[in-house]
Amino acid sequence: MAELTLSSLAQNLVGSSAVDNQRRAKQLASQGVEIYDLGIGEPDGDSPEVVKQAAIAAINRGESHYVDPRGLEALREKIADFEWRCHGLKIDPLQIVVTVGSLGALSLAFRTLLDANDEVLILEPFWGPYANMIKLFGAKPVVIPAVEVDGALLPDFVALENSITERTKLVILNSPNNPSGKVWSLSELQKLGELCEQHNIWIVSDEVYSELVYDPIKHVSVATLSPAIAARTIVATSVSKSFAMTGWRLGYCIASPEVAVVLAKINHYTVRCAATVSQWAALAAFDHFEDLLSEMRARYAHRCALVERLFSRYPDFQFIKPEGTFYAFVKVPHYIDDVEVFVKRLLEEKGVVVSAGKAYGQSSRRFIRLSFATNDLVIEGGITRIGELANQIKH
Ligand SMILES: Cc1ncc(COP(=O)(O)O)c(C=O)c1O
Repeated sequence: MAELTLSSLAQNLVGSSAVDNQRRAKQLASQGVEIYDLGIGEPDGDSPEVVKQAAIAAINRGESHYVDPRGLEALREKIADFEWRCHGLKIDPLQIVVTVGSLGALSLAFRTLLDANDEVLILEPFWGPYANMIKLFGAKPVVIPAVEVDGALLPDFVALENSITERTKLVILNSPNNPSGKVWSLSELQKLGELCEQHNIWIVSDEVYSELVYDPIKHVSVATLSPAIAARTIVATSVSKSFAMTGWRLGYCIASPEVAVVLAKINHYTVRCAATVSQWAALAAFDHFEDLLSEMRARYAHRCALVERLFSRYPDFQFIKPEGTFYAFVKVPHYIDDVEVFVKRLLEEKGVVVSAGKAYGQSSRRFIRLSFATNDLVIEGGITRIGELANQIKH
């Protein structure tokens, strides 16, 4: 009998090193090792009480049915209002498609735009899953190294333009950026927009950290630059990080009305609709967004300041204050030869989980990413141990 095979795209997928790290941390914890987990990519607290109550009420009302593949109309109205008030993005609810998290929104965008062998520009440092997601759609990721300026990794527009070919279909923009915490400035966004107009390229703008910015930094959506740029942009975002709702799996795409029709069709054929109860829960989050977001920002601003204070004790590490997100992206001292070995030793010898920079592209191979979506004790214990191991290596 002929052998059963998986698709060649599936066979070539690479697993996530972050998942391996977390598994090993769990194993160590079960052996009684104290773990300082600075690897987590999600808010540490529960979802807000109003969100939980709205979901319970929805269940009790019998909201257990399919809804329109575009998402609940009431939710899309709330999102349109939120996008206008928070980001100045003027959209009609018909331009919104509610998805299964921003991963679902990104997948929909890629499925809608990409043909086999199309090229997708990804700027370093980039969120790890992008490259594999692109491959899963049969397209080719083209990675653009960053330029390093005083320990900060910035977009290299010359390298970006030089990488454009006739097969280039889209560029992924991620601001605020995971892992670097960088928020793109208006002039950087304009440069990107101009390049995309000049070369007729789509923009998929992953704005999942849009609400997590630190004063006086403001998040600007590339879709607000001009109607022409909005027409070539699909925004992919979610309530995961802003409202501590990762497990509800609720996100959305924003696109032109014509593109939104296609996104909704593909949503229908892949998941039918995002979970109905989660949609009602998200609606409650948008109803209370001002209070929920200001409380959340204050919490992370406090933690960010704590991370900054702790790293000031270890000046061999190059720490640049993140402008957004809950990640610190820190350049390790020159006497640490191999960052991946350092990250492994941190886990095995000190119980500290961080991510090695290589996962985000070659330009960041001298960096480690720490998440401060955790409590002060874990942050303090973790960073102190990072400093200790570095000192042991130095002396
Ligand atoms: C840059 C980036 N995009 C997308 C996601 C996925 O988020 P969601 O939970 O909305 O699917 C994450 C999650 O870590 C992320 O960091």
